Amino acid sequence: MYPIKRNRRLRTNDAIRSLVRENIITTNDFLVPLFVVEGKGVKEEIASMPNYFRYSLDLLEKEVKELWSLGLKSVLLFVKVPDNLKDNKGSEAINPNGLMQRAIKTVRNACPDMLVMTDVAMDPYSSYGHDGIVENGIILNDASVDVLTEMSLSHARAGAHFVAPSDMMDGRIISIREAFEDEGFYDTGIVSYSAKYASAFYGPFRDALDSAPVDMVDVPKNKNSYQMDPANRFEAIRETEMDIDEGADIVMIKPGLCYLDIVREIKNAVDVPVAVYQVSGEYAMLKAASERGWLDHDAVMMEQITAIKRAGADIIASYFAKDVAILLNK
Ligand code: PBG
Repeated sequence: MYPIKRNRRLRTNDAIRSLVRENIITTNDFLVPLFVVEGKGVKEEIASMPNYFRYSLDLLEKEVKELWSLGLKSVLLFVKVPDNLKDNKGSEAINPNGLMQRAIKTVRNACPDMLVMTDVAMDPYSSYGHDGIVENGIILNDASVDVLTEMSLSHARAGAHFVAPSDMMDGRIISIREAFEDEGFYDTGIVSYSAKYASAFYGPFRDALDSAPVDMVDVPKNKNSYQMDPANRFEAIRETEMDIDEGADIVMIKPGLCYLDIVREIKNAVDVPVAVYQVSGEYAMLKAASERGWLDHDAVMMEQITAIKRAGADIIASYFAKDVAILLNK
């Protein structure tokens, strides 16, 4: 009791503060999302994601080497698919020589020790911009799971270490796990986006990949019939526990900052590593505010990343990963 206990003693100077600090950010914490496009010598800035780029394979190679030299050891790949290759079934997703499959090989060759994770979802390949097959205004579950399973196998064959299904179809984890076991991919892991909310924070990402749901009759305008309702908490636990039972090695909550209550709850409830995806809209907000001089970019970035870790994230997927690594390497 005061004055016997004076809590400020532990905050007196930097040395004592570092000694009692509970959460420390290192480059080991991060997954780096990377956007890949066709072409040569392409490094295009994404309009709504300042200082974030789409890379063609040759420049992807350069970028991953740079990430590696900064101490970032895991990447999560996304591809932007040309319109003429999109259809309702996402057929291009399982092309063994498709952009994703070549991107996996590019990273594996450029940086043999880099961990390669891949986004498994139909939306960048879907002519309707959905994560599943659309039929009469409905997103089909089981038929979409078949595509996601084939897509996962295709990524595993190309050399992905982990696949990350981000679609929120029911039963896709067990289907992918069984297919991996059948084909001998015993060591290929699954990061499940187990609690993914139907969030408006994904806007800039959909610009980056040109993957937003299209405005057409009989095409749902949003992803509310598969991604979770932001109002729900218990459902996140249920979804996550099911994915672990089905064989997920790592589970993920997405978005990050608005969902840290869910992160803590899941961290307390499960015993597999918990990942958090700080999404594109979160990145865009800080970039915009700091461009205007309204927020101190690096300070707010570190505060946000620390908050995500403190909430229970073992792994953080973030577009700030490289910025943080550069700051930590200073
Ligand atoms: C694709 C996918 C999305 C994101 C990751 N994978 C978009 C979506 O579900 O619409 C969002 C990532 C971000 O906003 O940074 N299924």
